[in-house]
Amino acid sequence: MQSITIRRPDDWHLHLRDGAMLEGVIGDTSRDFARAIIMPNLVPPVVTTADAEAYRGRIMAALPKGDKFQPLMTLYLTEHTNPDDVEAGKTSGLITAVKLYPAGATTNSHGGVRDIEKAMPVLERMAKIGLPLCVHGEVTAPEVDIFDREAVFIETVLDPLRKRLPELKVTMEHVTTKDGIDYIKSAKSNLAGSITTHHLIINRNAILVGGIRPHYYCLPVAKRENHRLALRAAATSGDLRFFLGTDSAPHVDPLKECACGCAGIYTSINTMSCLAHVFEQENGLDRLEAFASLNGPAWYGLPVNEERITLVKRDEPVRFPAKVETGAGLVTVFDPMFPLYWDVDR
Ligand code: NCD
Ligand code: ZN
Repeated sequence: MQSITIRRPDDWHLHLRDGAMLEGVIGDTSRDFARAIIMPNLVPPVVTTADAEAYRGRIMAALPKGDKFQPLMTLYLTEHTNPDDVEAGKTSGLITAVKLYPAGATTNSHGGVRDIEKAMPVLERMAKIGLPLCVHGEVTAPEVDIFDREAVFIETVLDPLRKRLPELKVTMEHVTTKDGIDYIKSAKSNLAGSITTHHLIINRNAILVGGIRPHYYCLPVAKRENHRLALRAAATSGDLRFFLGTDSAPHVDPLKECACGCAGIYTSINTMSCLAHVFEQENGLDRLEAFASLNGPAWYGLPVNEERITLVKRDEPVRFPAKVETGAGLVTVFDPMFPLYWDVDR
């Protein structure tokens, strides 16, 4: 039997939602992960440190008994964010990063930033105090094709911002293109990228071929195969600048399976099995720990986890539920479209 033991992984980009959905999904993360960066795109969003403190309390209250899990809180950047509040959040240890959503880029992002100029005082303060900016790297201009939005963001927003504030640490989240990978590799410092589980597995055909498949729709939308291959090469390379951010984003089925379905794929429950499969395919199992457990903490300046998990390759496929039941409704689980043999040994 094949097995691999790695430090307990972390998820550097996660949507936990709130209320009944939070209660229904958090156990799928806390089972396998020690920490996660928690996205602030609630309705209304987590804008102030007081909001983040209260949300952290709700997450801890929803945690299954006995699970050790540390939510790393983020603030949703607006054009009115107060630099002093952000600094206080970092100083108290509550806030790990600030999240930039270009207005309208994705689920619950209408309150995001329209004019980056207006956010400059906060960004300057973050550069000064060493607080990372997590970016949803897509422009939202209607004339830009949805498949080009990441590349155009790099050119028109991210690169100018980094030239203007070279001391600002930026995480390009859920990189989906070769352009994104190449841009991160070309940076000398202060830039890293998270990669999701599903973008290592699907390309855009999964959404569109043989019928429209809403459970493969997320933002940034999956791209062409050459981009997926670039993501796989980066993730399995061991390069310190790339780490796991699942972007697991639960929506109840009726909100996915309708005329205007929500973006988001739910992968918390089977991410480690999927990743072991991908890394084995790429002959990179010995670099899974770097991607899932080492590179993220190094980037965020946090200690690595001391606990270990063991993944074992079973003889029979591991059965994950097709749907997770939450108090908010059923949530469809990501189907990688191949059997999973790797299993976290619990
Ligand atoms: C996320 C969500 O549902 O909150 N959706 C997604 O497709 N990833 C938002 C996001 O991270 O873009
Ligand atoms: Zn996300």
